[in-house]
Amino acid sequence: MLYFTIKALHQLSDFLLIGGMLINAFVISMVPPPIRVGVIVALRKYDRTVTTAALAGAWIFGLWLAFGYIGFSDGWLHAKLLLVVILSALHGMQQAAMRKMAADPKLEPNAFVRIGMPTILICLVLIVALAVIKPF
Ligand code: HEM
Repeated sequence: MLYFTIKALHQLSDFLLIGGMLINAFVISMVPPPIRVGVIVALRKYDRTVTTAALAGAWIFGLWLAFGYIGFSDGWLHAKLLLVVILSALHGMQQAAMRKMAADPKLEPNAFVRIGMPTILICLVLIVALAVIKPF
């Protein structure tokens, strides 16, 4: 019972994390600068509460599953962790970009943050395939 509860909390965190990061990516790279400021001020509150908590939940429940049940010997988990580290770094850079953009709306984010949307979508497909299919 505990295993499935932790797994459910893990996946709930994953859904909220990916949802929050996709909103960040949309606002950062697709919303025109003139209207971006008001949106970013509101979005930063949501990001600091929901998306950041979801990132923590994905790590805490994911590592709990690994330490408590699955172990770290499988290749799929190693590849998955690399992708999750990339997502975690991107989230931190999204937060930094939004902080700067709230101060200067005309500011353009760096290239890695600008390609956030495809990066998140590609990581998501690979992570779910690795976690569910466990190909290696
Ligand atoms: C943050 C670090 C993470 C760690 C350490 C981690 C680790 C794990 C582990 C050990 C499992 C259990 C596998 C099993 O019971 O068979 C699991 C399941 C899963 N993880 Fe993660 N995970 C992390 C992040 C993520 C993220 C960010 C996503 C999605 C975006 C994700 C998606 C999934 C899915 C879909 C499953 C269920 C697989 C199944 O039903 O067999 N994980 N994760």
